[in-house]
Amino acid sequence: MKFLTIPLIIFLLGLTDAFAQDIILDSVPLTYSNIDYDIEGRLFINIAGKKIYENISEPEISIEKISGNPTGNDVGILLDFGNINFQGLVYYGFIPYGDSKHPHPVYFNSSAPIVNGKGFIEIARTMSGRYDMINWEKNQKGTIGYRVVNSRGDFLYDGIVTFKGKGPFEIVPTIIEGPFINLLTHEGVTISFTTNMEISASVEVNGKKYNDEKSRVHEIKIRGLDPSTEYEYVVHYGENIQKYSFKTSPLPGSRTPFTFAYASDSRSGNGGGERDMYGANFYIMKKLMALAIYNNAAFIQFTGDLISGYQQWKQQIELEYANWKRAVQPFGAYFPIYVGIGNHEALTREFSSEEGYNISIDRFPFNTESAESVFAENFVMPENGPVSEDGATYDPSSKTVDFPSYLENVFYYTYDNVAVVVLNSNYFYAPSTNMLRYSSGGLHGYIMDRQMEWLENTIATLEADSNIDHIFITIHTPFFPNGGHVQDDMWYNGNNDYRPYVAGKMLEKGIIERRDQLLDIIVNKSGKVIAILTGDEHNYARTEISPQMERYPEAYFAKRIDLKRTIYQINNGAAGAPYYALEETPWTAWVSGFTTQNALVLFHINGEKVDMEVLNPDTLEEVDRLKLR
Ligand SMILES: [Fe+2]
Repeated sequence: MKFLTIPLIIFLLGLTDAFAQDIILDSVPLTYSNIDYDIEGRLFINIAGKKIYENISEPEISIEKISGNPTGNDVGILLDFGNINFQGLVYYGFIPYGDSKHPHPVYFNSSAPIVNGKGFIEIARTMSGRYDMINWEKNQKGTIGYRVVNSRGDFLYDGIVTFKGKGPFEIVPTIIEGPFINLLTHEGVTISFTTNMEISASVEVNGKKYNDEKSRVHEIKIRGLDPSTEYEYVVHYGENIQKYSFKTSPLPGSRTPFTFAYASDSRSGNGGGERDMYGANFYIMKKLMALAIYNNAAFIQFTGDLISGYQQWKQQIELEYANWKRAVQPFGAYFPIYVGIGNHEALTREFSSEEGYNISIDRFPFNTESAESVFAENFVMPENGPVSEDGATYDPSSKTVDFPSYLENVFYYTYDNVAVVVLNSNYFYAPSTNMLRYSSGGLHGYIMDRQMEWLENTIATLEADSNIDHIFITIHTPFFPNGGHVQDDMWYNGNNDYRPYVAGKMLEKGIIERRDQLLDIIVNKSGKVIAILTGDEHNYARTEISPQMERYPEAYFAKRIDLKRTIYQINNGAAGAPYYALEETPWTAWVSGFTTQNALVLFHINGEKVDMEVLNPDTLEEVDRLKLR
């Protein structure tokens, strides 16, 4: 935090203390350039002597508002969206926990209007008798799922509310998000969920109850389990329970056959309905998760652009994450969903002017409002990655933290004889690429120095680990874009000039040189890396990264490297975002299987053998098949 300049402090001395205390500003990270506050405390960027001010607006929507703050009355549940101008519709129905392995709301035969920001779910008279499929009349409790729709018919949020009584109805502790299986190992797991109110909850596994502290966000660590064993777990919250199960991973290196799944890019698609649930393609995500579970996937890796994002407000991006998690939750209660960051996870500060300037940078303060920190708050991922870019040669100060954190957005995990390394090529990301020389910021597709060092060390560790046979690297942006992002990712139409800026200075290595340094690590310094799993381009395609493949522009003056062996780039950004077609590149001859159909990639691991199978989650047809090893 930083206080205002001296003239303003003198000015503020004349004001009340209370007002003066509100004027503490978030200090501008030293990694940015030309950005400061004016005497009135307004943030601006100085472009060639001209002040371009930050866009200041209020969040239009938040989970808190759109959930309608449910309250009970004598005959049902009232929803108040806190906005008199909000008109729309609520679809609702009981969630019959226990009736299906993957509980979803079963919608009732009528809906409730939202008039002047208020809606009402009538339970007592209409959802009773032949519509009471959860026995709420007898048990005097139940759970309702409700879908909030605006007057244009856009789906905004799927809420959950648990009630008690048969009139009057009382709102009781409700799991509004989760439970999710996280950080699964051969001996333990972390189960996470969010409740509508602060409660202390517990999870029961194998006859042992694990309690937590009073909170809305719950992360309960279970330890001391046996490998390759199926466990039922019971979540206790208030007077209710939910039951699911998980299977611990095999003892490392036991080389048991298993399958894992890969996809990315599920931000809202066109077509209406569940394809656009305020930020997420709910429809494809549900089908994709169901198909992964149906194929007994041990886990799924999902690398970037989960949501539409590019938001200025944390409240709005959190609603998008909530919708994505809601789509996958009925499946994520059984197996881990590992996520990586993409460009659409961007949470920014924006500056614009009438002359057409538009500058957008990773939001600060970094520790609470950067894209990276909000991503970490929303998921439970391994914490074994690098710390940040602090300490790199371009770190503007060794005394302060000047970069966002890599915590939970760069990491690796293992499952039996497989390791998956998750990278972040949208770190410190400033979406206004052509303005980087003014503002500074990270470049789409670029892996900065400390992250690359960590990758090199991690690969060396995994190469030396006799339990690991296969390493998959996953990163949102393709090394070799083929359709949709040939003008950026790690190619920029063959222009190596593109690179991040820190504190007004460009980094030493251009994007193509950095791509080559990464290839040198994962191809030449590794025998175990088998494939790079990418997204960003909304299609499925496989690229054979062979030593013979042409991978430089015609005029290229930086150092060229040789590759010692072949690996594959498996691109699967086909989880619901709008499609891109195939484009011409120097490596087009090495690309095959390209399709704009929705796709789920399955890797079947059997000791030393790795087979890839690609299925369409919508039609269930086979898309591609390849023997990788
Ligand atoms: Fe992307």
